[in-house]
Amino acid sequence: MRQLFKRKPIAELLVGELETPQSLKRVLGAGDLIMLAIGAVIGAGIFGAIGTAAAGQTDAAGHMVRAGAGPALVFSFLLLGVCCALAGLCYAELAAMIPQAGSAYAYSYATLGELIAWIIGWDLILEYAVGNVAVAISWGDYFKSFLGAFGVHLPDFLTTGYRTALLSADPATHGLLDTAPHVAGIPILINVPAFVIVGLITWLLLLGVRESARTNNVLVVIKLLVLGLFIVAGLTHIHAENYTPFSPNGWRGIHQGAAIVFFAYIGFDAISTAAEETKNPQRNLPIGILAGLAICTLIYVIVGAVLTGIVKYSDLGVADPLAKALDVAGYKTVGWIVSLGAIVSMSAVLLVFQYGQPRIFFAMARDGLLPPWAAKISANRRVPYITTIVTGAFVALWALIGDANETYNLTNIGTLFAFALVSAGVFVLRFTEPDRPRPFRVPWFWVTTFVSVVLCIYVMLGLPLETWIRFGVWLAIGLALYLAYGFKHSKIRQKL
Ligand code: ALA
Repeated sequence: MRQLFKRKPIAELLVGELETPQSLKRVLGAGDLIMLAIGAVIGAGIFGAIGTAAAGQTDAAGHMVRAGAGPALVFSFLLLGVCCALAGLCYAELAAMIPQAGSAYAYSYATLGELIAWIIGWDLILEYAVGNVAVAISWGDYFKSFLGAFGVHLPDFLTTGYRTALLSADPATHGLLDTAPHVAGIPILINVPAFVIVGLITWLLLLGVRESARTNNVLVVIKLLVLGLFIVAGLTHIHAENYTPFSPNGWRGIHQGAAIVFFAYIGFDAISTAAEETKNPQRNLPIGILAGLAICTLIYVIVGAVLTGIVKYSDLGVADPLAKALDVAGYKTVGWIVSLGAIVSMSAVLLVFQYGQPRIFFAMARDGLLPPWAAKISANRRVPYITTIVTGAFVALWALIGDANETYNLTNIGTLFAFALVSAGVFVLRFTEPDRPRPFRVPWFWVTTFVSVVLCIYVMLGLPLETWIRFGVWLAIGLALYLAYGFKHSKIRQKL
């Protein structure tokens, strides 16, 4: 039993700090990291999920299944801002102390032992790869409406995944199951744009990290400009009466709204996976995580306040709420600018997440918990190319037939779980490794780590039971895989 909780000495984790031909390349500075954080954070959440968080969700029979926050959505954002800031502080302490590509996986290996590390590594697939499935599908939706603004209409059966048609309460979308072309009795319902964008991003990542970071910087500037345009254009069209009732479902709405729109915050932690490609990570990682998070929270609160001021919250349950708000405000022609902004923003999110996932697999394979081929790095560009391709194929194929809503909640619960364990890890390490140099220290760690864990669990409780069950099944599959492979091949235990 004790073997299952074998901890990896931090000194071994730091082996990645020395640059060798086998290691990743250190090219990123604090500015790049802030841009990467914004790149990962602002995307499908603020352009899409924000509408459901404000309006709530009803089933086909018209029953409310999720309570909306209404204009009090700004409180959902603030609650999440506090939750993520506390988790962000914990990430910053561990990322600066253990600047290693595996992120939460690596930290828990050093703090809570191998079994928990494996569970976290497995859990992070929900955040990175499954999260990107949802973003890719949302990207496809906005791409379609962008083309639509110019009179180009893609056929529905080539832009709608099978699961989306199957689960949709909208008769037209559900009807695609009958009207789409059939091959051998099976309806052809595939999301080609989502598939293609994941393929393109994967190809870009194979070119190397410097090229990827440069591309990300350009994408981030564009997304900030578009959100700035939304705020400026919307400010003069706020109607005070839209703010009443301010909190239609009370605290329950704020809580459940937060559990949905948490997706909008995911990503600031992803930059910790760049630890081995960062110059002076002890200084730059905390700056990147905390500054990126602060900027995003500010933007979200302002966008949330402007959005619910322009449109009655109950009308926001649409796929493109920001575009709808501008439409209501009378800016008919700028709708396509917002669609373009959404496309660009989500491309940046896809880029950072497709970047992070292979590095977690890479770190796990280096420890023997995954097969050795997953730790291979290309000779010239020093990119973990095999895991980059495997991740690309996994996300692209799921996005081809999957449904975005189905994956949002799963991503949220998986990420919150990782945040909670990272926060607990900071606490444990203060006792097990009290003298280890900490270039960045969580202030008042007793309070900070405790409140962080409690808040993460609290937001998780806002998710539906179905999500908890799926999460349990996912973890059980991971445990079975660990017992079948990782337990036997773990490098650290082979040394015992
Ligand atoms: N925070 C990211 C988004 O909203 C995942 O797309």
